[in-house]
Amino acid sequence: MSDNIRLMANAYILGIESSCDETAAAVVRSGEEIVSNVVASQIGTHAPYGGVVPELASREHLKAIVPVVRQALAEAGQTYQSIDALAVTQGPGLAGALLVGISYAKALAFALDKPLIAVNHLEGHIHAVLLEERQKGNRQVEFPVLALVVSGGHTHLYLVAQRREGWSYENIGHTRDDAAGEAFDKVAKLLGLGYPGGPIIDKLSARGNPAAVKFSPSQIKHHDRRRREKAIEAENRPRFDFSYSGIKTAVLRHVETHGLQPLIDARRKVLAAMVKPTPQDYLANCDQATLDLVASFQRAMVEDMSGKTLAAAQAYDVATLFVTGGVAANNELRSTFEREAAMHGLPVYFPSRPLSTDNAAMIAAAAYPKFLAREFAAMDFSAEAGLVLG
Ligand code: KG4
Ligand code: ZN
Repeated sequence: MSDNIRLMANAYILGIESSCDETAAAVVRSGEEIVSNVVASQIGTHAPYGGVVPELASREHLKAIVPVVRQALAEAGQTYQSIDALAVTQGPGLAGALLVGISYAKALAFALDKPLIAVNHLEGHIHAVLLEERQKGNRQVEFPVLALVVSGGHTHLYLVAQRREGWSYENIGHTRDDAAGEAFDKVAKLLGLGYPGGPIIDKLSARGNPAAVKFSPSQIKHHDRRRREKAIEAENRPRFDFSYSGIKTAVLRHVETHGLQPLIDARRKVLAAMVKPTPQDYLANCDQATLDLVASFQRAMVEDMSGKTLAAAQAYDVATLFVTGGVAANNELRSTFEREAAMHGLPVYFPSRPLSTDNAAMIAAAAYPKFLAREFAAMDFSAEAGLVLG
């Protein structure tokens, strides 16, 4: 292992990500240039079940990991020997899925005698934004940053600050039950709209009236007020928690009270007979009442996320907003955040859509400061399904 890491002009880090249902590998130069970025999605495997099946995910990762890593190296014009370090997602995620990436990364690092860096998946989502801004030549991002990490498993708010070469993260809010992406997926499933639900709800919402169905604020409010007040008293650090299981139940109740179930059953039947339904197929099998319901659901979700995030930004007087994770691909979420942030005089950054969802470039980018600080993983580290950030 080189002792001249700090003197190295360029560091090429091979990132590996296998926390959920994407097997991904990427090579990133010095945390600022994506040299290759390969993502093998398992959506086709899990779609018939309407959600990720952990055992199937591990099996698919095992099949994909070697070819995906080889492809990432080949597309980067790199070899196992030429890379400077390896980075792998340690958690949070599915334990069995994480283990596939970790075991392979450990074996490679050991055989090649290269440093190995363990990365928190949520830190990766935050660094996806920083990586792309650097790649565009923007080095003007001002701190502190408030980052909303919003995905299938998370709706987390972090205060992000720079500390010498590294970063510090303070969690000031998270979901008390379902994550935002999970709510999109569950609502799509109960409406017979396939998996994953986010992208299809995003597309269908453009055809519906977002003011048609009113969801009351109490349906997207967590009720554990005592804990919040105690937290404020204890540290004078207000919290901005989310809760999205109530809105899913409200959608279900709307379906029941408005007699939408027969149409949902019919749609399920038609779409199940199709190999790979397109957004047009979904649209052709939706009536206006369903499109209105979907658009109203998305509006309520987006308003809740943007409202709480902007309130937190004011409370903590941050300089910049980041919105990242799979749900950050949502069109209405982006336009709403852009509008609201502009009204508050705050710059807001998102990753490009391919880097919003799970990928390994973000893992390799988050590893770079750790590489400079020589924060290498001991060979006996393991997957941590519930790993926290900060
Ligand atoms: O970050 P990600 O790829 O995986 C996790 O770490 O969970 O996020 C996946 C989630 C899924 O719940 C998916 O429905 C949601 O992101 N998603 C979207 C959109 N694209 C993906 N949600 C809303 N609108 C979208 N366009
Ligand atoms: Zn993710």
